[in-house]
Amino acid sequence: MLPSCALYAAGVVCALLLVAGIGLIVAQTFRTFMYNRLKKEIVLVEGSRVFETWKKPPPPVYMEFFFFNVTNVKEFLEGAKPVVKQVGPYTYREYRYKDNVSMVENGTMVSAYNIKSFVFLEEKSVGHPAEDYITTVNIPAWAVMNKVKGSFWKSSMVSIWMNSVGSGIFTNRSVEELLWGYEDPLLARVASSSPEVETTFGLMYKKNGSDDGEFIYHTGEQNYMDYGRVKTWKGLSQLKFWRSNQSNSINGSDGSAFHPLLDKNERIYIFTPDLCRSIYMEFEKDVEVKGIPAFRFTPPRSVMASKEENPANEGFCVSPKNCLGTGLLDVSPCRKGAPVVASFPHFYLAEDKYVNAIDGLSPQRTHHQTFLDLNPVSHVLSGVNPLFTLEL
Ligand SMILES: *[C@@H]1O[C@H](CO)[C@@H](O)[C@H](O)[C@H]1NC(C)=O
Ligand SMILES: *[C@@H]1O[C@H](CO)[C@@H](O)[C@H](O)[C@H]1NC(C)=O
Ligand SMILES: *[C@@H]1O[C@H](CO)[C@@H](O)[C@H](O)[C@H]1NC(C)=O
Ligand SMILES: *[C@@H]1O[C@H](CO)[C@@H](O)[C@H](O)[C@H]1NC(C)=O
Ligand SMILES: *[C@@H]1O[C@H](CO)[C@@H](O)[C@H](O)[C@H]1NC(C)=O
Ligand SMILES: *[C@@H]1O[C@H](CO)[C@@H](O)[C@H](O)[C@H]1NC(C)=O
Ligand SMILES: *[C@@H]1O[C@H](CO)[C@@H](O)[C@H](O)[C@H]1NC(C)=O
Repeated sequence: MLPSCALYAAGVVCALLLVAGIGLIVAQTFRTFMYNRLKKEIVLVEGSRVFETWKKPPPPVYMEFFFFNVTNVKEFLEGAKPVVKQVGPYTYREYRYKDNVSMVENGTMVSAYNIKSFVFLEEKSVGHPAEDYITTVNIPAWAVMNKVKGSFWKSSMVSIWMNSVGSGIFTNRSVEELLWGYEDPLLARVASSSPEVETTFGLMYKKNGSDDGEFIYHTGEQNYMDYGRVKTWKGLSQLKFWRSNQSNSINGSDGSAFHPLLDKNERIYIFTPDLCRSIYMEFEKDVEVKGIPAFRFTPPRSVMASKEENPANEGFCVSPKNCLGTGLLDVSPCRKGAPVVASFPHFYLAEDKYVNAIDGLSPQRTHHQTFLDLNPVSHVLSGVNPLFTLEL
């Protein structure tokens, strides 16, 4: 009785093992099959599963703008520490689509223009851009002074002009003007002798409904790892803003496509013209987005680290005598010399000395972190947080 029972039991175990074995083999084959199909399907060619969504990415992208309202101008001019009150967010939904998409180089590459437009979202904002006034650094004046720095005569001239048009170190402008442009009296004065000078200034001036130049992308047909990777931007395969070839590299995609079969151990690179550089993100944790597993990638501290902390960043330091520390990026080379500094939202990851220099700042990880949630297999973008803020 007993032996046959054992035999019987063993038989069941064997059968189970066999079933499990078959299951494993089937799963493995199925996975390889799926992966190969994905690799074939995730390519940027007419008729592919991903082409239409790549041209017109459906997930909404929001851009939040924060401003620092200087509330003690008088005291600051007498030598006090600036006291700023953070005002924001003023949120815009960014609509993007790719225009003039065409296959180039015998169909191995695809060329496109990224058209972005911005629509204000009152319900996600603290106030109204046309009605809220901010006292902030007078960037056009800084830019003009920067240009004439070193020439006594020109600087004196600019000072006289500044007095005559009533512009100072700070300016009081509405949020709308600061973002979308205003006629600056000093620039108008300068333009009367140098007509090539643009008299309107705004952080996002002319950015609504326009593109930032031609991109050429790899289709991913030859190698799935190249899917969506930027080959050239405005005809260049290297930027010219920075001081080293490493910093000038155009790495990765434009953020709207990531290669399939993502690995937790890899760095994903994104080239963003808004920041004028490539950045990277690394795996942070597993998350679930609407029940679908995803990898959360976030930019590590090293991306924006000072050159002492990360020598690879040396080239981003445009004026070697006056390098910015961790967390900040001087984007003036690609903003016509205007002294604008980019940071992670709210100086997140920035050195304490920047945070402490200004009253009213409080970096918080959860609120100010940039992240991407990516489905590891299909690479589908399932969630994003506003990428960067330009802060004045
Ligand atoms: C900025 O500060 C000024 C006073 O310094 C205040 O009148 C103004 O309302 C503030 N702006 C916003 C948007 O809070
Ligand atoms: C797209 O092509 C049309 C016709 O050639 C051209 O007029 C338009 O400026 C192009 N768009 C962009 C963003 O370059
Ligand atoms: C495109 O393909 C044709 C024929 O295969 C070849 O002669 C030509 O050099 C190719 N052009 C480019 C830009 O690769
Ligand atoms: C940008 O353009 C769109 C459509 O052309 C318009 O609806 C929107 O209000 C504009 N946004 C701003 C901030 O002017
Ligand atoms: C800024 O300008 C607006 C409109 O001209 C004015 O109402 C406001 O009082 C000004 N704010 C400051 C702080 O000067
Ligand atoms: C950058 O690369 C180019 C060619 O690839 C080379 O000629 C140049 O010397 C390099 N510049 C630096 C700063 O390394
Ligand atoms: C671009 O990629 C290369 C090689 O992966 C890396 O050495 C370089 O630091 C990257 N540059 C930027 C700006 O991310």
